[in-house]
Amino acid sequence: MSKDPVSRRQFLNYTLMGVGGFMAAGVVMPMLRFAVDPVLEVEAAGNFHATKLKVSDITSEPQRVDFKYEQTDGWYKSDVTQTAWVYKDEKGDIVALSPTCKHLGCTVNWSTNKQHPNQFFCPCHGGRYEKNGKNVPGTPPAAPLDAYPTKVKGGYLYLGKPQPNPYVK
Ligand code: FES
Repeated sequence: MSKDPVSRRQFLNYTLMGVGGFMAAGVVMPMLRFAVDPVLEVEAAGNFHATKLKVSDITSEPQRVDFKYEQTDGWYKSDVTQTAWVYKDEKGDIVALSPTCKHLGCTVNWSTNKQHPNQFFCPCHGGRYEKNGKNVPGTPPAAPLDAYPTKVKGGYLYLGKPQPNPYVK
């Protein structure tokens, strides 16, 4: 029986177990994070971000609204800037569309194509959308523009996370 409380062999075993455990944690943690992420996302979907647009200033003509908010991803905080095209429909309901083209992700603008006024136009490949975001058949985009859920608080417009367009039936 050795006088040492920990033999050389035991010490080596403990060290290898420690290093192995550390490396296994490095593999398992990202998998756990991946599994838990959708749960966190559902919670984030309920978040609305303030814009500087007063609801009383929204007309039937789409106007571009840029809004900023702070996003926390784990321990990393960053400022995010997003854009929406906002107008009131014939019933007076607020419509807020994402400007991200559903073809390859360029930014669409309202009524900038003289041949097709009163449509959203994507300058990258000539994609077009009707006012409610419906993609015009025969142009590259294969789906309608996404839409932001809207909320009014203190007379100002708040926008959620873009969702598939509910205005196109
Ligand atoms: S990215 Fe918009 S038409 Fe191609």
